[in-house]
Amino acid sequence: MRNFPTVLENISDLNFDQLQSLILLSKKFKNGDIPLGHIEMSTGESPIIATSFLETSTRTKHSFAIAIKRLGAMYIDFNAEASSLKKGESLEETLLTLSHQGVGMCIIRTSVSHQLAEFKANPPLKIINGGDGVNEHPTQALLDLFTILECKHGPKNKTIAIIGDCIHSRVGHSLCSLLPQFGMKVILCGPEEFLPKNIPNNIEVTNKLEEAILKSDILYLLRIQKERHQSKSLPSDEEYHQQYGINLEKLKRFSKLLPIYHPGPANIGVEISMEALKSPYYFGYEQVKNSIFMRMAIIKSMFHS
Ligand code: CP
Repeated sequence: MRNFPTVLENISDLNFDQLQSLILLSKKFKNGDIPLGHIEMSTGESPIIATSFLETSTRTKHSFAIAIKRLGAMYIDFNAEASSLKKGESLEETLLTLSHQGVGMCIIRTSVSHQLAEFKANPPLKIINGGDGVNEHPTQALLDLFTILECKHGPKNKTIAIIGDCIHSRVGHSLCSLLPQFGMKVILCGPEEFLPKNIPNNIEVTNKLEEAILKSDILYLLRIQKERHQSKSLPSDEEYHQQYGINLEKLKRFSKLLPIYHPGPANIGVEISMEALKSPYYFGYEQVKNSIFMRMAIIKSMFHS
């Protein structure tokens, strides 16, 4: 028994042994070494699992839905817009209600950073953070690590440049917490106003794209989260692409045709060109494929620990 947390809010909720076991289990699911549709609770019943996305999502929500169904659990798509949350009900009361209806786990996306922390002391059900404000997106970082390992791009003794709106990126924060544990060096790169000010000692920061590319083995691109910016003086899409966008011509100029990762959604012509996205250097769709296996591993581990 590895005692997985009841609430997975941040990467730091998992110890190194748990992180390693999630990678191993994802691999087993991907290789077909474990039969699908066999998840059950201690009572022997198949669990009911809900997703509650209070912010938009394509990848995270659907890959969790597929993972839940492949595990043979019942899936509830909790529609927050059509729920009593709209009548002023709190998230806590919503989760208590779902738990009394037999729901055993809820995957939540919220615009409020750290909103899930309050449930850790007395969780009404199992909770997975599907992205909370500008805090973390732990399951995305875990599936990224699984992809980096699988595609043999690292992580040990390799350097990843996370380029873009680092200050607002929840997956960026999760990657900074996760990848150094596996021996990977992280460089954050972007315009000054996109770079966090309080950075751990083991993370490098630069506003010089060329320097970041030349030092790196993998590029990890982030979109500009315009919805989270107060400032009206953001660079235009063209200016940003010129200075920090990745296209093949730029990488060839630096003699660095590196693997390109992106959590999605990508803004074409801003942080990445269409040519780069459709090239063999782009691994965003490998991340998407692997997301199902990692999320199956996380759900199963949280029910079986
Ligand atoms: N990577 C990610 O979280 O994508 P979605 O916003 O589409 O879920």
